[in-house]
Amino acid sequence: FQVPFPQNEPVKEYRPGSDERAKLKAALAEASSKTIDIPMYIGAEEVRTDVQKALVAPHNRHQTLAHYHEGDDSHVEQAITAALNAKEEWANLAWEHRASIFLKAAELLAGPYRYKINAATMLGQSKNAYQAEIDSACELIDFLRFNVHYMTEIYSQQPRSSAGVWNRQEYRPLEGFVFALTPFNFTAIAGNLPTAPAMMGNTVVWKPAIQQIYSAKVIMDVLKEAGLPDGVINLIYVDGPVAGEVIFKHPDFAGIHFTGSTGVFQQIWKTIGENVNLYKSYPRIVGETGGKDFVLVHESADPKAVATALVRGAFEYQGQKCSAASRAYIPSSLWDQVRDYVLADLQTIKMGSVENFGNFVNAVIDERAFDKITEYITNAKNDPAVEVVAGGNFDKKDGFYVEPTVLLSSDPVSVTMCEEIFGPVLTVYLYHPENFEQTITLVDQTSPYALTGAVFAKDRYVIELIAKKLSDAAGNFYINDKPTGAVVGQQPFGGSRASGTNDKAGSSLNLLRWVSARAIKETL
Ligand code: NAD
Ligand code: ALA
Repeated sequence: FQVPFPQNEPVKEYRPGSDERAKLKAALAEASSKTIDIPMYIGAEEVRTDVQKALVAPHNRHQTLAHYHEGDDSHVEQAITAALNAKEEWANLAWEHRASIFLKAAELLAGPYRYKINAATMLGQSKNAYQAEIDSACELIDFLRFNVHYMTEIYSQQPRSSAGVWNRQEYRPLEGFVFALTPFNFTAIAGNLPTAPAMMGNTVVWKPAIQQIYSAKVIMDVLKEAGLPDGVINLIYVDGPVAGEVIFKHPDFAGIHFTGSTGVFQQIWKTIGENVNLYKSYPRIVGETGGKDFVLVHESADPKAVATALVRGAFEYQGQKCSAASRAYIPSSLWDQVRDYVLADLQTIKMGSVENFGNFVNAVIDERAFDKITEYITNAKNDPAVEVVAGGNFDKKDGFYVEPTVLLSSDPVSVTMCEEIFGPVLTVYLYHPENFEQTITLVDQTSPYALTGAVFAKDRYVIELIAKKLSDAAGNFYINDKPTGAVVGQQPFGGSRASGTNDKAGSSLNLLRWVSARAIKETL
């Protein structure tokens, strides 16, 4: 039998005066009124250590949201042992029971936990109410529901049999444990990386990014309330390299589900390669990594639609989406109109605390990110090839605030056209309309990444030409839309080249990486 075909979770708008806004405000006030204690979760234990560290709100660096308990290599060992101990029973549980736990978790997130997880994401990761809603509520719920559906599709795929022979295929979990290593910028991704392998019968050690610990704790609370058995997912807060040192030398290491920066993933891949003789099986290596996402505009495009896409695509969540528009190629003939619409839009945008729902732009994630982003801006200001068209100011006195910044570069391979900045900085390059075909090549060859990209054009021949020429330049390719906001079940997400293994989060392609199939032939 089949689970019902999932529907995408409807997005709440939190309009002024609405009941849902009042509930979210209450959850924010509750979370802001205290400093919570966040233990690690290993097996059946909540683990507390002598090393307690403060988690501060990026929009208000004087506010301590939580103290978390940092672990060391012994906690990594404990988490691996807990995962291995839980493995046999979990792997042999009928899939319907595993499915039910994750569907129940989705119901809890859609209902009683929605405001709590959104408040945790808003305060801990500095997202405004809408950005939190589409991430920690809708996208995470969608990952859980759609993955259950794809799981049943996979299990139902069976080989053909013939007279006197019954062939079948078992989709066994991997032998050993899976490591989920997750980023700060999407609560949904952090929740998907451990749950997708767990759904397929694996047990998991999960190390989140420190900045996402608050919403990670809420995810763990939800999974436990939904009935996830102890030890199936073990949540630890250990320095990344310290965790890696233990995990990647363990003979039962069966795979990594990673999302984060390209440099970290490449280092991890090398370490796994060096240790390959230690493992029982070749580990599955699944990673979604950085991006330098483009918007390519043709002369036939609508300038207002382009401007809206640039502002939303580049500056929503302060440009800290892997999918964010960060380099735009605009025909010089359209620039005056596009620029005026962009500047007019930016006039209406407010920056400040997540608690004020009128703010579109909030803080960047932490001081390290602030310093890195603002160094790019300062260097650009000193570069004669670059003009600051909008923004360019920043301040970290109370929170880590960086104005949405638009740079115009006369050099198509300037630093900010090529490198992932991961902040609210958009660089524009103007091309002569006669050089359109060369510009397509430039888009393809300027950056090593291939995550998302968008083309704006009305001319159908042009759209087809770009789609063909840029066929490997973006795993998620948008025609007349911004390059952010992929929806689970509609635009499966992931990129190739330096952007990842392109196993498409929230799809059967991804779930297949977490099974080891056994083909069985029985002669009757
Ligand atoms: P990050 O690479 O700094 O960290 C990711 C995780 O790896 C964290 O848990 C971190 O603690 C851990 N880590 C860091 N260094 C490590 C090491 N040496 N050994 C072991 N673990 C280590 O990334 P981030 O800052 O959290 O996230 C931003 C990056 O993630 C950006 O590059 C962004 O493009 C990318 N990202 C990609 C996607 C995608 O789908 N392609 C989605 C979200 C984010
Ligand atoms: N779903 C996120 C986006 O596409 C990753 O922006």
